[in-house]
Parts: sequence; structure tokens; C-alpha cells
Amino acid sequence: MSEIDSVLKETRSFPPPAAFQARARLKSEAEYQALWRESIADPQGFWGRMAREIPWMQPFTQVLDWSNAPFARWFVGGRLNASAVCVDQHLARHGAKRAIVWEGEPGDTRTWTYAQLHAEVCRLANALKERGVKKGDRVAIYMPMVPELAAALLACARIGAAHSVVFGGFSAQSLKDRIEDGGCTAVITADGSWRRGKLLPLKSVVDEALASCKGVHTALVVKRAGCEVAWDARRDVWYHELVARQSATRAPEPMDSEDLLFLLYTSGSTGKPKGIMHTTGGYVLGAALSARYVFDLRDEDVYWCTADVGWVTGHSYVVYGPLANAATIVMYEGAPDAPHRGRFWELVQKHKVTILYTAPTAIRTFMRWGDEHVTKHDLSSLRLLGTVGEPINPAAWMWYRDTIGGGRCPIVDTWWQTETGSIAITPLPGVTATRPGSATRPFFGIDPVVLDKHGAEVPAGSGGLLALRKPWPSMLRGIWGDPERYRQTYWSKFPGYYFPGDGCRKDADGYYWIMGRVDDVIKVSGHRLATMEIESALVSHPDVAESAVVGRPDELSGEAVVAFVTLKPHAVTSDALKETLRAHVAKEIGSLARPAEVRWAAALPKTRSGKIMRRLLRDIAAGRETAQDTSTLEDFSVLATLRAAEDDE
Ligand code: WTA
Repeated sequence: MSEIDSVLKETRSFPPPAAFQARARLKSEAEYQALWRESIADPQGFWGRMAREIPWMQPFTQVLDWSNAPFARWFVGGRLNASAVCVDQHLARHGAKRAIVWEGEPGDTRTWTYAQLHAEVCRLANALKERGVKKGDRVAIYMPMVPELAAALLACARIGAAHSVVFGGFSAQSLKDRIEDGGCTAVITADGSWRRGKLLPLKSVVDEALASCKGVHTALVVKRAGCEVAWDARRDVWYHELVARQSATRAPEPMDSEDLLFLLYTSGSTGKPKGIMHTTGGYVLGAALSARYVFDLRDEDVYWCTADVGWVTGHSYVVYGPLANAATIVMYEGAPDAPHRGRFWELVQKHKVTILYTAPTAIRTFMRWGDEHVTKHDLSSLRLLGTVGEPINPAAWMWYRDTIGGGRCPIVDTWWQTETGSIAITPLPGVTATRPGSATRPFFGIDPVVLDKHGAEVPAGSGGLLALRKPWPSMLRGIWGDPERYRQTYWSKFPGYYFPGDGCRKDADGYYWIMGRVDDVIKVSGHRLATMEIESALVSHPDVAESAVVGRPDELSGEAVVAFVTLKPHAVTSDALKETLRAHVAKEIGSLARPAEVRWAAALPKTRSGKIMRRLLRDIAAGRETAQDTSTLEDFSVLATLRAAEDDE
């Protein structure tokens, strides 16, 4: 595990600022320790008590049924509705409070109070019902960052249909695969959106996806960009026409705690994305509780999570978590550099944002753009900063703290996954002394351990594989349509333990340092991609015989996609063909997967058993001398050629 052993040597430590701590929900190590210990020693008691803080329509009779592990049932017998937790429960006290403060890229703004959000969710729920969407159906959502997107998730939840959000950067093919795998019967989309001043078409992508996809009876289209769209009158309906004439009330469906709330597709070690399943009670509790404690939410906060709702961060920390806490959330449609590189900071100043949650790639980008875009804005409203999605390097952490946070805001570096549903390893801002680059310590109910590949706990300070020893409420319930893959992927490496796929080091003080993926998943700008998915996209091109895709470190995006490609005999290498292949991947998967670099290889280096030697390729892609023993290479000349190709460039 030499990669994991190359650990950070970081000794700076930042205790919570006194002014922050004085007002925080949790203020002391003793409070955290007492709650965390209870959550591990008596999960039934702890989670039972926490769960009673959210409104149930029917109380649960058992906290956890783990008898059929790894298939968990949390809050057995309980009934609730996620939209009622996020909206209805706040109407009496917070009906007039701002729920969503939205800004479009061109600068148009809209604000919905909790009362308005309630009306919108009810109307949309009624509209979906009118179109024949039923409890238990799945609805695909392919939308820009507009308030209707939050309403769409909640409206599905209200009628008991599961949503399956597909990030707007995915291609028609990816969208179609996800719609078909999930058996979605309706799609909610928009005509288009704005990105760096350019129109981003969405409806036309949906049209292409649906052209060969049976079973979708309705496409509900928000008019956002006002662009021309093709129309199939049997299937397509304008959101504003259908929704406006609906009643603004609709009773929330009482859902079983274990009813499916959503599917969210994510990449694993194989070519096929997995539909991660989250159910109602445990997920909503996990999102609500973590948002409250990790972001220390207070009534007057203006909270901005910059993630797109197409990713899990947007599900849990744009929509469900903050809204369950009656927070005021900011949503922004566009790019951080439109129309100028200070747009985020202008938004923070304008809306007096108090909590900002964003990704390390964004922070590194802002750093590179230069402080002048930041310092011309007043960021004094900020009191707490967060990061998520990939490891953050200490230099970016320090810049975030000093330049964005003015040295006064704690930083919560939150580790979690689509599968964990909510934040799992994280500082608590009024409690934890933070260290640049460490996600610090486990959240309630999370029982981490760092193991070697044989399952033995490694000594403090050594690198190893992260595992979680206990189930937790917002854990995934499975992979849609593939229970065996769920068991295999997450619960078989260390039987009885959940295996997230990350390398990790725990230091002598019990702090966790996440070192990145140990499987074939790469994180490009925080976006999760499977190298195998990109490989299958490449080999679907008629000129490609074989390909191997690896990540190489990148100063801005964390990792960048490098594709080694072996062409078929008829094909001729050229720069134009490299471009064609990069574009082909973008067409097949989406532009987020476009390789940064395509390299030709006469053949790929393989072990005698035929496995591609990925670590070797990673070393070559990164320009590192490889330490790997190459005596099992099938063809030594391949290595020489790859090296030579590198020298040529
Ligand atoms: C990585 C995103 C280091 C990790 C919420 C994990 C992180 C994967 C952090 C999940 C962090 C997430 N520090 N690495 N704070 N947060 N990761 O499913 O490799 O898109 O397994 O969920 O992101 O990615 P996903």
C-alpha cells in the first residue's frame, strides 16, 4: 500500500474560534464524546431519541432491524413523509421565512418562503398525479439549478414516487441508461439553462434519450431559457401550464420508513453505474441531524451549498438536510466565473451568506484566479465554511480559511459518499480543533476503523483501508435491481463491515485523514467517475481495440482522466483522432468524463493472468518512476514503448 503510506505531515491545529464556540450548538469535547459514545454503545437508544425529533405520521416500533444484514431496516413500522418533514412542519412558525433564495446566472432572482414552497410542492404533486404518476413509481429529474428542482424532489416525495436525479452534464445516452435501469415513467426537465452566458439545452437531450426509451409517458418541462424546443404533444407538457392550474394543497402520502425515497446513480468499479437506493426515515434523519450539527444551523443563517442537486451533496445539503431544519438556502444557477470571477463572492455579499459549503476543486480554482476577485467583496457575513467531495490539500485549506473566512470561520472538511447518504467523518465546528487536510473524527453513529488488506487494524499513523463497523440510519439500502452486487461491493471485503473504497490514515490523536480511492473510481473536480465506464465508451468507437483509463494528479481538478488507447490495425494515430476520441467520450457519458489526455499504446501492459497493470499506468500517467515489479509483464516492449511515447511529448 505504498500509495496510502505517502501520508501528509501536517501539524497545524486550529481550535474553534472562541466567538463561534460560545454560541455553537455543541461547545465542548465532552458533549461530543458523550453523544458519540452513546451512539456507538447504544445505537437503539440514541437513534430512537434523535428520530423522535422529526415528525412521524405513525411512530416506529423498532429502531433497527439488522437481522437480515447487510439489508437494514430502520425505524420499523414508522410512517412519515419527507416533504412534510422539510416543509409542512415549518408552516406554523416559519411560513413567512425565506426557504429558497435563488439567483439565475443572468442575475434574475426569485425567493420562495416556506409557505410558497409548500404551495409549489403541492401543485406539482397534484400535477404529477394528474399525469398518472403513482406511489411507487420512479421519476427522472434532469434539470438546471432552479427552485423548481427542489420542488420536484419534494413533490415526488409527497406522492410517494421515488426521484432519480441525473446531473445535467450527463449525455443523452447516460440519461437513457439511467431512465431505463430505474424504470422511470416520467421525466421532469427544463427547456434549457444558462452556463457562462451560453444556452445549455436540456429538453433536446431528453428528447434524444427518450427517442429509443419506452415507458416514459410524460416529460414535464420548466420554461427557463425560453429557447426553441421540439414538442411531442402526447408526452410533453409545460410545467407552467399544468402546475399553475392545480390546487395548492395536497396531503402528504404516509410512507413507510423503508419506502424508497430516491435512486441516485453513481460510478463503481465496473462499467455500469449503480442505482444507489435511499429510503425515507433513515435518510431524512441522517440528512437533518448532520446538517443541524455539522453546519451548526441557527434560525438566522443564510446557508449556501454550491453543489448541483444532480449529486448527492445537492440532495442531502441543498434540499433535504437544510430544509428539514427550516434553513434559508441559496441556490445559484450558473458558473462561478459568469460574468466575472468574483461572482460567488458577490453572491455571498448580496445575500449575506453565513455558511458556505463547496468543493476543494472550486477553492483551488478561486485561489488560482487571484485574491483580487475575493477581496473587493464584503464577506463579513460568513461564519462557517465547509468542503466536500475530495481530499483538500493544506494549501487550499489555509487559503479558504484566511482569504474567504478572514481567519474567523471554522472549516468543516466533511467526508461521506453517495452511499452513506449523509456526512460521516467531520469536524463539529464548535468542538473540534481542525487540521488542514483532515476530516477529523466520526459523526454520531459512525464507527470507523483503518484495516490492512487482511482485515487487521493498522497501528496509528499507518495507511490502510477505511471500514465502518456499524450500520447507520442514512446508509444505502442496496443497489437498484442488484442486491448481490450491493453485498459484494460493500460488505464482502471485510465481512460484517461496510467498505467505502477509500484509503485512510488515523493519527495518534484519533483524527482520520482520507487518502483517496483505492478502487477504479476517480474524482475529477469532485465528480465521481469510473475508469471502466470511460474505457467502455472508448472501445465503443470503431477505431479502438482496447483502452485503459487511469487518473493522474491534477493541481486544479484533483485528478484528471488519462486514457491509454490501442487502436485497431486499420486505424492511424493522429492528433485529430485524439480529439475525436475525447469528443466521443463526452458524447457517450458527458463532458465531465472527457479525457484530459489520450495516449497511444501499441499494447497495454498486462500481467500473465491478463489483468491490466493499472498502477504502472498510473505511474506513467503521473510521470513517476514506477516502483512496481514488472517481471510479470506480458510484453516488456510495451513498457518501453509507453515510456518512449512519454519522452516524445
Ligand atoms: C471522496 C460525495 C476526502 C471519497 C459526497 C469518497 C472525500 C467519494 C471527501 C464519494 C473528503 C468525499 N475528503 N475525500 N472530505 N468527501 N470524498 O459519492 O473518495 O460523489 O469515497 O459523494 O468522494 O463521492 P460521492
